[in-house]
Amino acid sequence: MRKNLIAGNWKMNATHLETIQMVQKLSYRLDYADYQRVDVVVCPPFTALRSAQTVIESDHLQIRLGAQNVYWEDKGAYTGEIAPGMLAKLSVSYVIVGHSERRQLFGETDADVNRKVKAVLGAGMTPILCVGETEEERESGVTEAKVGGQVHAGLEGLTGEQIAGLVVAYEPIWAIGTGRTASDDDAGAMAAFVRATIADIADEASESTRILYGGSMNPGNVAGLMAKRDIDGGLVGGASLDPDTFASVIRYWV
Ligand code: PGA
Repeated sequence: MRKNLIAGNWKMNATHLETIQMVQKLSYRLDYADYQRVDVVVCPPFTALRSAQTVIESDHLQIRLGAQNVYWEDKGAYTGEIAPGMLAKLSVSYVIVGHSERRQLFGETDADVNRKVKAVLGAGMTPILCVGETEEERESGVTEAKVGGQVHAGLEGLTGEQIAGLVVAYEPIWAIGTGRTASDDDAGAMAAFVRATIADIADEASESTRILYGGSMNPGNVAGLMAKRDIDGGLVGGASLDPDTFASVIRYWV
């Protein structure tokens, strides 16, 4: 059985002070039953991770911490980059890797993404590997070729055990931050396609890998998406910035 996972990707929003308030407010709105059903993750900016860690540990919260990016080297002359070990030391459990904004705005390649996935695993954390097609790719009928290629490249060289433990987020780029969501059927079909692609690489692992949907997920559409067999959770951007709204996404079955 795969446990659901809902992760808030705060992107470049929230100072460390705002983060403390957001984590605390979110925690007030969740209870034991929520954490039983869903692994709840917040991914604030790097500058807020330490503060988030402190609140989570001092208040004994079951919210887990994620980072939005990482570099693959352990240390060295890489001005401005953050090493996996630095994140692990802050009790970061998950790292978003290959988000479409990183790929499109900052030129991350499939090879970079694969190095990052391996580095995250090497530091004992769980990658959330993001894949997804642009609107033009969808319209020209190459969605599966694009997403399948990203999955293959991202998982290159991993063991079946590593693949079983990781998280893949299917995020159609045209749905990110646009208010347009993939239909439940389209999102479910693409999640199934991602799982089938993983099965080609590591058959026994594919039923364990958790697959998230991302792209304008909100309290109104989450239940329909979560009803799909192969969707095990969400990567939530805009709707994760308000604790009330994010809690409603997490409590989608209530
Ligand atoms: P969105 O972002 O929910 O604001 O569309 C999702 C994401 O980019 O992960």
